[in-house]
Amino acid sequence: MGKFVVQGDTVLEGEVKISGAKNAALPIMAASILCDEEVVLENVPRLQDVFVMKDILLSIGFNVIFDKNTLIVSRAKDISCEVPYELVRKMRASFNVLGPIAARAGKARVALPGGCSIGVRPVDFHLEGLKKLGFSIKVEHGFVEATFEKRVEHATITLPFPSVGATEHLMTTASLLEGTHTIIENAAMEPEIVDLQNFLNAMGGNVKGAGTSRIEVEGVKKMNSVRYRIIPDRIEAGTYLIAIAASGGMGAVKNVIPSHLANPLGKLEQIGADLRIYKDTIEISMEKRPKSVDITTNPYPGFPTDLQPQMMVLLSIANGVSVITENVFKTRFLHVDELKRMGADIEVSGNVAIVRGVKKLSGAPVEGTDLRATAALLIAGIIAEGSTEISNVEHIFRGYENVVEKFENLGARIEYVPGETEKNREN
Ligand code: UD1
Repeated sequence: MGKFVVQGDTVLEGEVKISGAKNAALPIMAASILCDEEVVLENVPRLQDVFVMKDILLSIGFNVIFDKNTLIVSRAKDISCEVPYELVRKMRASFNVLGPIAARAGKARVALPGGCSIGVRPVDFHLEGLKKLGFSIKVEHGFVEATFEKRVEHATITLPFPSVGATEHLMTTASLLEGTHTIIENAAMEPEIVDLQNFLNAMGGNVKGAGTSRIEVEGVKKMNSVRYRIIPDRIEAGTYLIAIAASGGMGAVKNVIPSHLANPLGKLEQIGADLRIYKDTIEISMEKRPKSVDITTNPYPGFPTDLQPQMMVLLSIANGVSVITENVFKTRFLHVDELKRMGADIEVSGNVAIVRGVKKLSGAPVEGTDLRATAALLIAGIIAEGSTEISNVEHIFRGYENVVEKFENLGARIEYVPGETEKNREN
């Protein structure tokens, strides 16, 4: 794996343009399986996770052209029903092709996703939901096989927790079940789910309610050709805003939908950041040392778990004690030990972290453990005293397009040293 060598003591200043949302692009790519005509997606970020989904579409028989940020998916002959472990293990979101393939082809066999460093991430809600939609489910030899058994007229699925992936998987699958009326209760309400609904409807689907906790889907027989633009990445935007604030800098984050960030923006204000919000730009400046604030992650519109590690870095240098409660992935604190190596004073008990602000972090060798944790360590390296070497840094390319260039434009000093296997990384 490669590493970043980051020179610290940097105050970030300038502009950054936000890319398309990874977490909208992935389920929308999976949903394009429902269509046997051409799907053109714009504003698709060039990220490792998107390349994995592209490989899955290729592996089951689609033609895919990815030129700059436009991705064109078109149908080759028959689609294959099996997705191998090599592809699913790389990214959990790839499991969400199971239902769409089975809805189209009557049957699908997809490897179970592998373990994940941010905690156990089961797929039980997905499978229970598919059963309600008329599929039989068999789990054997590490694969899940879904077979369409019978059309059901009404399916009501109540999710035990508003899972983003399960909501997306089930609303997508239900869209191609003609004659089935599906209701998903306790659905996740993330903006990426609204984007998926808009995409499905643009393709000829009949979905309503996304953005609320009750989604209704009327299955249709066929999807039509579509051109669709992916929303901006609110987590990428939040990461840069937090980084600028943590460095005591000032800047503009462009090409965002500010309402998608309402909760984190409120927290940044409480911390003492000065914000100016325009239609698609957020300006931020931070003149004083941040104040401590308590954060509790929750499904949208709560504070996003995907910004928790980055916010922890900011709070680690705040004036006072902050309490961070993680309610989505209860063990998502792998970055804590690394931050402690940099001088942060953090104590974890169960799903709660007590962060006692210190004046300054200090550069140290640390290791990236997952995507957002690695982004957090990069911010920590930028603001720390001295230089920080972050190993296992490849995680970050799963979710941040042109991350080194974007941070360098803001004044960060980052050297990327590729690992042996990454020297030939296709991008
Ligand atoms: C998505 C996002 C991820 C984000 C997460 C929560 C994508 C590609 N990824 O992940 O970046 O951190 O939402 O906002 O959009 N659960 C179960 N059983 C299931 C499904 C989920 O118990 O069948 C649990 C999970 O273990 C977790 C919680 O539900 O504790 C939320 O997970 P979920 O919302 O499904 O996350 P993902 O869709 O995997």
